[in-house]
Amino acid sequence: MSLFRESSQGAWGSRWTFVAATAGAAVGMGNIWKFSALAGANGGAAFVVVYLFFVVMVSLPVLIAEVVIGSRGRANPITASRDLAREAGISKAWQTMGWLGCIAGLVILSYYSVMAGIGIAYIDEIFTGQFKDLSAAKVGAAFNTLLNDPKQLLIWHSVFLGIVMLVVSTGVERGLARTSRIILPVFIILLLIVVAYSMRIGDVAKAQAFLFDFDWTMITPSIVLAALGQAFFTLSIGLGAMMAFGAYMPDGRSIAGLLSVVVLIDTAVALLAGMAIFPLVFSMNIQPDAGPGLVFIALPYAFGHIEHGELFGGAFFTVVALVALSSGVALLEPAVAWLVERFKFRRIIATVVVGLLVWLLGFAALLSFSHWSDIRWLGMTIFSWLDFVSASVLLPLGGLLIAIFVGWRMREEAVRDEFYRDSGFIFVLWYWLLRYIAAPAVLVILLVPLYQYFLGADV
Ligand code: PHE
Repeated sequence: MSLFRESSQGAWGSRWTFVAATAGAAVGMGNIWKFSALAGANGGAAFVVVYLFFVVMVSLPVLIAEVVIGSRGRANPITASRDLAREAGISKAWQTMGWLGCIAGLVILSYYSVMAGIGIAYIDEIFTGQFKDLSAAKVGAAFNTLLNDPKQLLIWHSVFLGIVMLVVSTGVERGLARTSRIILPVFIILLLIVVAYSMRIGDVAKAQAFLFDFDWTMITPSIVLAALGQAFFTLSIGLGAMMAFGAYMPDGRSIAGLLSVVVLIDTAVALLAGMAIFPLVFSMNIQPDAGPGLVFIALPYAFGHIEHGELFGGAFFTVVALVALSSGVALLEPAVAWLVERFKFRRIIATVVVGLLVWLLGFAALLSFSHWSDIRWLGMTIFSWLDFVSASVLLPLGGLLIAIFVGWRMREEAVRDEFYRDSGFIFVLWYWLLRYIAAPAVLVILLVPLYQYFLGADV
């Protein structure tokens, strides 16, 4: 079989298709909106450094493990984990891993769709020149007006989710994944241009100091938890979405090598987004912890001040919407695939049922910015809770289960099988990282907040 696959795919084409499709599902609003908001709210460098550490030491090994499950299990996450548990002769309860993932995906998609919807709203506003020469304060005010307008937010949330549902229900996501080959390079080029512009007019020195001047004493448990969550979120791992990409794996290529390239691309995009946004933030005198909207204030302001900014900015936000779309699809697909395979739902019905649920949750999330802003528990709004529970708890938990499953429960030879293209050293290094670093680290970090909460202890 492997010979056949090898001869039927052009070597370069298939390698880049795999990398681009996987990176396409990883790169999204997480790199632009969430990374900048989290870095801004968590003191900049402390967050960035811890985040980079987790990406390399924890997320990359878990990403590889997730793709291994996919390339061996070849099914939706719930079925794949059940089948592999059977193969390994361990409890069926391991399919909880797939369950958790599907739920996490749907919860994330709810608020993800709200933020991506705001991105879509900006396409039109920028194309029509509504930010032309506006002052920083006015751009900020425009964003707040939008946040406080549930009707508008609902419209754009519905538009984004509707498109995601359309893609998933027609089963064209493979086609969409392939378009990443073009969309991703275009996005990176546009982003580089924004970085260059922001370096010219923004406060680069302040931004650099904020993002990269690192001091150990700045690290706190909540920064560690946020960085871990983001390291999972940004690579789309911990919920089974990446399992599907095992099927794209070109033969004769190193799984660890190709996935390292994916991680490199995703991390580069986040850092570039930071370098585009923060110099503007500082020169506009916005507080870096001003909330979720940094990207929606800094970039439109920039586009309002460059020549042909309407065209360029409109194109930029269009491409952002496209990369967000491939992430949105990756969030919805596991649950839909499961309903289709397990209960023989028609794809369209499964998509509508699950999509409706997500739409309602998203509705609640967007009301947190206006009518329901007072509904809080432990000081956090509905939006923040959806985000916290899914990104900081469910994803790391899913990642932990994946790491234990592949690292400790599957037979080593079965895992080794999927690595026949990698050198023995790479396999041993990865296996070791997964077993002794990734799994224990996530476990400890997840337990610390519980410990703090129940014992009121200061860690
Ligand atoms: N990684 C995506 C982003 O950064 C979000 C995502 C998370 C997608 C989890 C799928 C699964 O935008």
